[in-house]
Amino acid sequence: MNDTSIYNECLELATRVEGLKNRIAQRREEKDKISHLNAVLSSIRDVSRLIIKEKDPQSLIQGICSSLIEKRSFHNAWIVLVDEHGRVTTGSEAGLGADFQKILQKIENDRMPRCCHMVLSEDRFLVTTNPCRECLNCPVSYMYDGRGSISARLEHDGRIYGILTVSVPIAYSQDPEEHELFKDVADDIAYALHSIDVERDRKRKEVALREARDKLERRVRERTRDLEVLSSRLLNAQEAERKRIAADLHDGIGQCLSAVKFMVETVIQQLDGKVARQAIKSLDALVPLLQESSEEIRNIIMNLRPSILDDLGILATIGWFCRQFTSVYSHIRLTKTIEIEEDQVPETLKIIIFRIVQEAMNNIAKYADAGAVSIYLGKKDNALELRIEDNGRGFSVDRFMTSGSSALAFGLTGMKERAELSGGSFRITSSPGKGTRVEARWGYSCVRSY
Ligand SMILES: Nc1ncnc2c1ncn2[C@@H]1O[C@H](COP(=O)(O)OP(=O)(O)OP(=O)(O)O)[C@@H](O)[C@H]1O
Ligand SMILES: [Mg+2]
Repeated sequence: MNDTSIYNECLELATRVEGLKNRIAQRREEKDKISHLNAVLSSIRDVSRLIIKEKDPQSLIQGICSSLIEKRSFHNAWIVLVDEHGRVTTGSEAGLGADFQKILQKIENDRMPRCCHMVLSEDRFLVTTNPCRECLNCPVSYMYDGRGSISARLEHDGRIYGILTVSVPIAYSQDPEEHELFKDVADDIAYALHSIDVERDRKRKEVALREARDKLERRVRERTRDLEVLSSRLLNAQEAERKRIAADLHDGIGQCLSAVKFMVETVIQQLDGKVARQAIKSLDALVPLLQESSEEIRNIIMNLRPSILDDLGILATIGWFCRQFTSVYSHIRLTKTIEIEEDQVPETLKIIIFRIVQEAMNNIAKYADAGAVSIYLGKKDNALELRIEDNGRGFSVDRFMTSGSSALAFGLTGMKERAELSGGSFRITSSPGKGTRVEARWGYSCVRSY
């Protein structure tokens, strides 16, 4: 073997060694890249888990930044969030430390770092190969020595939520696979922020709706109370007025009629029969007329406010009312059952019970065409019960008692109002052809005057 061939063999060997070294370096690079991508994938899995469970934006972005650097996939990571007007609301970082505040301060002072400016207003995605050189106004660029950065806009459905930036080894900063993974993470984060927004909005609306409903209910309660007070005053005023008119009629016209009748009778006795036969005849005819008028006035007075109620009580008043009713409507069989003592009926309820009996019985007389009627007043289970029942033609209660139609049924609503305002309950049951039952019930502990 001569020198030349030895030299050539050495050369060939050197070339093969060089090739081997290159292949080894390439393998190492490939291995590094695979372990980097694995780390990135593992971080992305952690981010996905966070996105599902975290509902607070600040905790979410803090968790994401920590997850992104935890597996050493990225050297540092930071997120800045903006509101719908593009104003920065908050930020989080991992791997940058206290210097991150300088980024936030710069943004606050309207001197946005280049990556923020570009990603928020121009490109959705930005790769900076050498931030140390390219980002001179960035307060943290010195931390990127030997590394590049990748930034992405966090955007969903046209709404920009902020920016995510990570630092990667320069070798991977241009890797399309890396870019795709990063864009997916950014999209997932934006979607999570969007979902939190939607949920918050829903809760806010729910609260607003609940508040509006509560307010409305409060107002309805207040108005109902006002109306109850008004109703009470009206009913009281009505009772007082009836009492006054009854007294006026009794003391005025009633007395007057009695006096006139007495005088006419006296004149008749004094007149000489032969002289004034015709006059006596005329005056005689006046007496029953005056008698009738007196009775009519007395009936009116009793209906307005039966003095018997104040003098003898409710049981006697119901008795008197039943006698009056039977004398006028003799074809109706009336049964009265009283299972209570006078002193067991609270004083304030007496006039109310009478008004309900009066209205129910007047309705029976006017509409029921009934053959039998029963009145019950008694005490059951520490409650006072009043029931008026007829076997007449009945009617459709809904037609008169539903809101809106109650104006047609002044009598029915009046009974209900009186019973309820005095602390009781009221029920009217009827259907065409099946008779009518009016019931009022007062628990002794609930009775109140109105
Ligand atoms: N016992 C009854 N039998 C059949 N229909 C009745 C009876 N009670 C009430 N009604 C029906 O209910 C309607 C409403 O009664 P409500 O007492 O409210 O008014 P009203 O008697 O017509 O007028 P008001 O009582 O103001 O003089 C009556 O017009 C009648 O059609
Ligand atoms: Mg009526």
